[in-house]
Amino acid sequence: MKNRLKNQRFFNRKFVPCGYKFAGCEKGMGITMITDERMSTFIDSLDTGNTPFLNEIESEAKKTNVPVIRTQVQSLIRLLLAMQKPKSILEVGCAIGFSALLMSEYAPADCHITTIENYEKRIPVARENFRRAGREDRITLLEGDASDILRELDGSYDLIFMDAAKGQYTHFLPDVLRLLSPGGILLSDNVLQDGDIIESRFAVTRRNRTIHSRMREYLYELKHHPELETVILPVGDGVTISVRRT
Ligand SMILES: C[S@@+](CC[C@H](N)C(=O)[O-])C[C@H]1O[C@@H](n2cnc3c(N)ncnc32)[C@H](O)[C@@H]1O
Repeated sequence: MKNRLKNQRFFNRKFVPCGYKFAGCEKGMGITMITDERMSTFIDSLDTGNTPFLNEIESEAKKTNVPVIRTQVQSLIRLLLAMQKPKSILEVGCAIGFSALLMSEYAPADCHITTIENYEKRIPVARENFRRAGREDRITLLEGDASDILRELDGSYDLIFMDAAKGQYTHFLPDVLRLLSPGGILLSDNVLQDGDIIESRFAVTRRNRTIHSRMREYLYELKHHPELETVILPVGDGVTISVRRT
């Protein structure tokens, strides 16, 4: 059994070009595929893409090493928006506004998006992008640390997109659940951590150990929460989709 697991691990890893770099990844960090690279390329090649303006923002993000959601996550978001037709969206982790703009493009016209960012260099760029898109009235950018902002927020959101510091997801969860409407969707990105999530904590680099254990804890909480139905999917860098039971 042990050997079978070991072989399986080797088999899985064989397809993972460790450290394979993609344009547009965070400075100094490689993006590693968690699925077969050829399969991902094939799936991406079928994608019908976004509007020219979104493509422009995405390529600006890539040029300046700002991390944005990957193609398959973009497609998943478009699907969720078509299914859910949310009237209110909350995003934790705006960066320069690419995913907020994508959601505003594909959500119903009367949907309002609130997004949170704490990196002061990215905030003016996001604001400028919202202005260029003529979406300032549909997107509200809240500046500051998400833990403080989430604590102060009230109201209810039909879709919450968690895409900020991975080690803080568990910390944000109680407020996020308080803000999620019944039947609402919580989408969380980068939950499989470039494949590190399946490794022993001793096999991941020391600086990633805290994030590794917190992300495992987050996945456990999502899967075992009595008010949530959650699926973990190997899409992009791993996502979870949770629906709050009504
Ligand atoms: C992966 S990027 C978001 C990408 C964006 N959702 C997109 O696809 O266009 C994560 C962002 O979350 C921000 N962030 C991380 N931790 C945060 C926190 N505690 N409060 C607010 N923003 C945070 C980072 O500065 C970064 O810009």
